[in-house]
Amino acid sequence: MLTKEKFIELSQKYSTPLYVYDFDIIKDNVNAFKKAFCARKSIICYALKANSNLSVLKYLSLLDCGCDCVSINEVKRAILAGIPKYKIIYSGVGKSESDIKEALNLDILFINLESIEEMLKVEQIAKDMNKEARISIRVNPNIDAKTHPYISTGLKENKFGVDLDSAKKMYIYANNSKYLLPIGIHFHIGSQLLELEPLILSAKKVVELIWGLLALKVDLKFIDIGGGLGISYGNEEIIDLYSYAQGILSTLSGLDLTIICEPGRRIVGNAGSLVSSVLYEKQNENKRFCIIDAAMNDLIRPSLYSANHRVEFIKLALTNIEIPPLLLDSTPLHSRADIVGPICESGDYIAKNVEIPRMNSGDLVIIRDVGAYGFSMSSNYNSRFKCAEVAIIDSKDRLIRKRDDFNDLISNEIEFL
Ligand code: LLP
Repeated sequence: MLTKEKFIELSQKYSTPLYVYDFDIIKDNVNAFKKAFCARKSIICYALKANSNLSVLKYLSLLDCGCDCVSINEVKRAILAGIPKYKIIYSGVGKSESDIKEALNLDILFINLESIEEMLKVEQIAKDMNKEARISIRVNPNIDAKTHPYISTGLKENKFGVDLDSAKKMYIYANNSKYLLPIGIHFHIGSQLLELEPLILSAKKVVELIWGLLALKVDLKFIDIGGGLGISYGNEEIIDLYSYAQGILSTLSGLDLTIICEPGRRIVGNAGSLVSSVLYEKQNENKRFCIIDAAMNDLIRPSLYSANHRVEFIKLALTNIEIPPLLLDSTPLHSRADIVGPICESGDYIAKNVEIPRMNSGDLVIIRDVGAYGFSMSSNYNSRFKCAEVAIIDSKDRLIRKRDDFNDLISNEIEFL
């Protein structure tokens, strides 16, 4: 856990807004997964989308992790960071022809197929390349994961995977194809899951299909149980990893399959903090705002999912901006405020209605549990720079991404007038 003094030091050394990741926490999280699944052959294929910084990936490769990728560029990132190709899987509903070609050329563990058309496309490309494509099929078990609708993926109305009956037909087809080698089966029903039951129910449905396939001589080697395990952003109770692993393992008895799990958030989420500085305070009769230098382009989760992130305040010994008597307002300071960023949208906020002390310009606001889907979802909206990122390894800080500069914003644009 980083101390207040450390955050102050980092803010002065690297400026704000700044993402800081504690790699010891990442290591503990990986080890907890390893321990939970130690009774079985298993690979932890970290879901890169949660945080794809190369140093994070490199660190995970040293901890023997594989990667779950959802774009060919994520595959390339994983390889660049030293993740072995035989531990890389590639999912996603919309892989283009060139994505598939590259994936086959790179010889990763398998491609997760999400539709019949995609399977036929992969077969055709493999044929053209005179290769056998190792594949897995993403099954949509039609189970309610009981999470935010934007991050629920295992229901019929979601675009992901194929239903169990179609999957069965696809496996039969693939098993008879010279250019397709079905070796895995995959499900992932949603993210930030706090209930175990939907995961176990999904596993049971998928295992039933695996038994049916065995009878048809489709002999799979891997079951990919997806990711989705939630973390605590406040007081939520999270799924115990041991119970999770035991629950999954109990559905697999009698089957000789390697388990692949794809956690993202549970590996990096609680390892990250976003350090920001207060710019101004303002208030009217109804509302008080604390305006900070981090915004929705840096952390979009509150604006997009109404996510709540814990915020902490570090008051520095600063003098407040002095307000001349003429401009002084008699309204007493509201004890609660919205913490908002500089972006031109009312939806640009980091936290709402939180109890905060009177903040001075330059005081720090630390936004917690942003290691997953924080920087990786950030953008240059309003022509703002993407943040710098710092890793803490063995108590030492290392810059792992520079803050953008103006040239980064414009370098791909072409003046045509
Ligand atoms: N596997 C697949 C196929 C996925 O689609 C995902 C996440 C994961 C694994 C990793 O899920 P995790 O363990 O991180 O929950 N931006 C959202 C989360 C989107 C998750 C998308 N898929 C958020 O900020 O909450």
